[in-house]
Amino acid sequence: MSERLVEFDIAGWQTPIATPMATQATEALESGKVVYLRELSFLLKENESQFLSADVADANSKNVRYDIRIGTLAGTSLSPELQRGMRSMMNRYADSTRALVNKLFPAYRTHIIQARTSYRPVEAEGRLSSYRKDDTRLHVDAFPATPTAGRRILRVFTNVNPLGVPRHWRVGEPFEEVVQRFLKTLPKPNWLAAKVLQMINLTRGERTAYDHYMHHLHNAMKANLDYQKNVSQEDVYFPPGSTWIVFSDQVSHAAMSGQFMFEQTFYLPVAHMVNEQQAPLRVLERAAGRSLV
Ligand code: SIN
Ligand code: FE
Repeated sequence: MSERLVEFDIAGWQTPIATPMATQATEALESGKVVYLRELSFLLKENESQFLSADVADANSKNVRYDIRIGTLAGTSLSPELQRGMRSMMNRYADSTRALVNKLFPAYRTHIIQARTSYRPVEAEGRLSSYRKDDTRLHVDAFPATPTAGRRILRVFTNVNPLGVPRHWRVGEPFEEVVQRFLKTLPKPNWLAAKVLQMINLTRGERTAYDHYMHHLHNAMKANLDYQKNVSQEDVYFPPGSTWIVFSDQVSHAAMSGQFMFEQTFYLPVAHMVNEQQAPLRVLERAAGRSLV
């Protein structure tokens, strides 16, 4: 198996996890590995198999989004009745992933924040989009409209494809190497421009120098076709019935193909990592020689 993955033998969302395994999983995650749970599937209920269709997402959305904190569903034009079923399925995935994350990464338990749940019923390959939105190119996640100010982006993914089709990813080089390669080429943050973006409400919250660099890093990686082709990378195929977890702000990844997948996002303040020196914030600060938040 790929050195970029570390596999753990966990087959249930609610099963207790012994401390040594939790420690190893946390260490793997923080060091930028993909935590791979080959046997952890998310089972759909009989009446939910009707959601295994690309049509359940809006024509111009690639995914259905659910916010468990307020119970809202977006990105779908299903009838109100079907939306109830969709919400219940999404809610179950959100509950399942939270239970898992709390057990697998107990160190994060008190400070991790559960954010959006998404269901991706549309084929990932061949969606037309601008290069910045093209997730078939290697990148680290950075959401320009939602500055994180250094908070980690932890994501849980589960392939639920009913036809045996894996989700095909590429996984690239370690974050330190991405930074070494690109940092010098990125524009310097501009304090005034950041304030203006915030004032006209283009960004929610302050866009820190960290957010500036992450956004430009994301774009610079995607824009460089030579990098995409030649950087050290590996193809990884996640079969249906498997789950994987990454800090997606750190792990260089590209989603090449696949259909029908769930994803749950969590945020974690850097200070609550076991070793915060491995956070993109700290890596960038060391490289830039100054504080970035
Ligand atoms: C991404 O985060 O780049 C997309 C992951 C996926 O859809 O498999
Ligand atoms: Fe991504």
